[in-house]
Amino acid sequence: MKITVIGAGNVGATAAQRLADKELANEVVLIDVIEGMPQGKGLDMYEAAPVGGTDTPVIGTNSYDATADSDIIVITAGIARKPGMSRDDLQNTNAGIVKSVTEQAAAKSPNAILVVVSNPLDVMTYVAWKVSGFPRHRVIGMAGVLDSARFRTFISMELKVSVEDVSAFVLGGHGDSMVPLPRYSTVAGIPLPDLMDQATIDRLVKRTRDGGIEIVNFLKTGSAYYAPSAAAVQMVEAIVKDKKRILPCAVWLQGEYSLSDVVVGVPIKIGKKGMEEIIQIKLTADEQAALNKSAADVKANMAKLNI
Ligand code: NAI
Ligand code: 2OP
Repeated sequence: MKITVIGAGNVGATAAQRLADKELANEVVLIDVIEGMPQGKGLDMYEAAPVGGTDTPVIGTNSYDATADSDIIVITAGIARKPGMSRDDLQNTNAGIVKSVTEQAAAKSPNAILVVVSNPLDVMTYVAWKVSGFPRHRVIGMAGVLDSARFRTFISMELKVSVEDVSAFVLGGHGDSMVPLPRYSTVAGIPLPDLMDQATIDRLVKRTRDGGIEIVNFLKTGSAYYAPSAAAVQMVEAIVKDKKRILPCAVWLQGEYSLSDVVVGVPIKIGKKGMEEIIQIKLTADEQAALNKSAADVKANMAKLNI
């Protein structure tokens, strides 16, 4: 198992370290355009291995030759937002970056599964799918796992229960119109609406929708990366271990949920082949309308692309 992480910034470097700590690969390659930076971070992580008792080398590089024959490629290259910016403000710059890195990486690893992280996530997943020419089951965007993890955290904080007992689902695009689903969110199997009133649910849903900007406003110089890297690594782990987990991920839809020709987050079964199935859950009219609106927002941004 060889895993490449493209972009050795906050999300990429933290993801590489988590992958090495969990020994999910025989080799992790960390690549960036900045000369020396991925080499330095990679060597630093490699030197942590004897202390952690792990045997996964992290190789930093500026050359795609070193990424050849990767099984999984995590794409985190691009700019991150700062206070006052929306994820959509990143689109023009990041579309060019994601196009370029996907072309170079896909040429060296034609059988890889791509896990896309760069923002705006749904549109960048579309760019990676389009440019790579890979089948849709091998191009999967990370957002739903992060947004659901935020929702789970806020539910656990509110009810003062272990996060382990909280599951939650957030579908749709990774933007202001994301679709948290309280009906499908549970604590030890008990649906959320049985545990808190609607005003509390609405408050937690809003905090989840604003979860990204809440961190940006604290950090001021960039965006979240601990939870995002953990979320991307959970998807990679599901692929490496063929776990067949059911996780909300962004994929190219072709009629599922009555949506076509758009990337948005839906529950998928994720295993060694990548996206192995799209799980279609029953939505109420309001939930479907919210998903449609979210998909329409992604489509509007896709239409502005020039790739
Ligand atoms: P960062 O600025 O710390 O790192 C980005 C790295 O990409 C930099 O090291 C930069 O040199 C590198 N890069 C730029 N152009 C490149 C190229 N052509 N080839 C290789 N590397 C290149 O940013 P951070 O915090 O790591 O975020 C990365 C991206 O992930 C951003 O677009 C951010 O918005 C997105 N993100 C998405 C999340 C999601 O839920 N999908 C969550 C968190 C971040
Ligand atoms: C987040 O939600 C930046 O999209 C990223 O934190």
